[in-house]
Amino acid sequence: MVYPIVVYGDPILRKRAREIEKGSMDLLAFAQDMFDSMNAAHGIGLAAPQIGKSVRVFVVDGTTLEVDDEDMTGFRKVFVNPLIVEESGEEWEFEEGCLSIPNIRENVTRQGKLRIKYVDENWKEFDEVYDGMKARIIQHEYDHLEGKMFIDYLSPLKRRMLKGKLNDISRGDVDTEYRILAPLRK
Ligand code: NI
Repeated sequence: MVYPIVVYGDPILRKRAREIEKGSMDLLAFAQDMFDSMNAAHGIGLAAPQIGKSVRVFVVDGTTLEVDDEDMTGFRKVFVNPLIVEESGEEWEFEEGCLSIPNIRENVTRQGKLRIKYVDENWKEFDEVYDGMKARIIQHEYDHLEGKMFIDYLSPLKRRMLKGKLNDISRGDVDTEYRILAPLRK
């Protein structure tokens, strides 16, 4: 099922999402809903709060990028109860966007490498290391589970400059090719 994407201004995007207990929900169905919603919006990552569910799950699908970036081959995964246990490596800048902040892209600096523990939709345990673009996508989605968004990394000046656009987004006054749920839409 395709859910509309919750956009900037909705308090759910600012909450720390809660851990999932094993067996407490149908993770296979939920993961499918997440993938369906992400694909409908042409995203490469989506966190559960972005479809209005405050639980610690995000999905990634970089396989649409594998033509240009073979590192992305097979990078289609579900992360449940993830925990980034270490970030390391050199910081690098990349222009990020977010389905919950349509039509705004800004440079964000993050560390290059991370180690993450999580279970997948079948409750299989993983402890993995990622770098490059994969690490970047994971960091961005993980932030959503902490109630954080990429614009939080911008300078106060930059954020002030975006204020009008962000207010427009909260009111649903933004063009998207996917369905959104805007908190202040009249
Ligand atoms: Ni995002």
